[in-house]
Amino acid sequence: MHQLSIKAYAKINLFLTIKGIRNDGYHELEMVMQSINLHDNIIISPRKRGINIKTNSNEIPTGIGNLAYKAAEKIIEESNFSKGVDIFIDKNIPVAAGLAGGSTDAAAVIKGMNNFFNLGLKKETLHDIAREVGSDVPFCLKPGTAYATGRGDKLKYLDSIKTYKVILVKPPVMVSTKKIYEIYDKSELDISVPVEKLLGKIKNKKPLKIKDGWANVLEPVTKKLVKEVSKIENILRDKGFEFTLMTGSGPTVFSLVEKSQKDLAVKTVKNWHRNQDFITLTKTI
Ligand code: C5P
Repeated sequence: MHQLSIKAYAKINLFLTIKGIRNDGYHELEMVMQSINLHDNIIISPRKRGINIKTNSNEIPTGIGNLAYKAAEKIIEESNFSKGVDIFIDKNIPVAAGLAGGSTDAAAVIKGMNNFFNLGLKKETLHDIAREVGSDVPFCLKPGTAYATGRGDKLKYLDSIKTYKVILVKPPVMVSTKKIYEIYDKSELDISVPVEKLLGKIKNKKPLKIKDGWANVLEPVTKKLVKEVSKIENILRDKGFEFTLMTGSGPTVFSLVEKSQKDLAVKTVKNWHRNQDFITLTKTI
């Protein structure tokens, strides 16, 4: 085997709430992270020395600015690996979109290098490396449904929810997560999310209904900056997709599609008239 190909899955947040600011400057979060089938493909192969990233995307850096590069660097630091690695990133996940695109590529490199080069790093070490690379990276090491606290790095995996088709729409705008949190801090927003109730719905395999209080407290912040978020949400809600929210710091909007709405979802994606948007129909995994 000369190379390893790994699927790096995107995520959405079924809810996201902020408990406060931590001593390290990060925000104390409570959220449910849910993997979706939209994925990048990461190909790892050996190289004499150094880290070399290539990609089919012109939107991501190939040096230290790429989380996958940082991940490879840390893996090399933490192991006795003395050679180099070629990493190809076949990008499908929109960039700076709230979908953990960069984080999931990094997680794939962490897992992939450990397996492919037989580095023997333990699960705990991989988790530590992941959290050093970014708050969302630990979750991306293990796709599924997880209740995340801390920076988003403390994970409790839940029984998976029933499979939902998911419509994703991203307007042609990128947002900086750091900036969204900064504006959140200056605003006096106080949205309460009924965390225990929502976790109970997942645990008891109840249908996920927006009226139960599913929300993302960063949504009003991003909406002020990116008007398209509200526009897209309104279009999707008007069509009948009630469970429509923004994921992460945005600006991607997602709708969970009810069984009875599958044809409508296909039609909606096919006939989407906002030509600049990224839109796709995927599913929870
Ligand atoms: O951890 P990561 O580097 O992905 O986070 C990007 C930015 O998002 C951080 O620099 C920080 O400003 C913000 N952030 C935060 N609290 C979190 C996660 C991220 O303030 N729990």
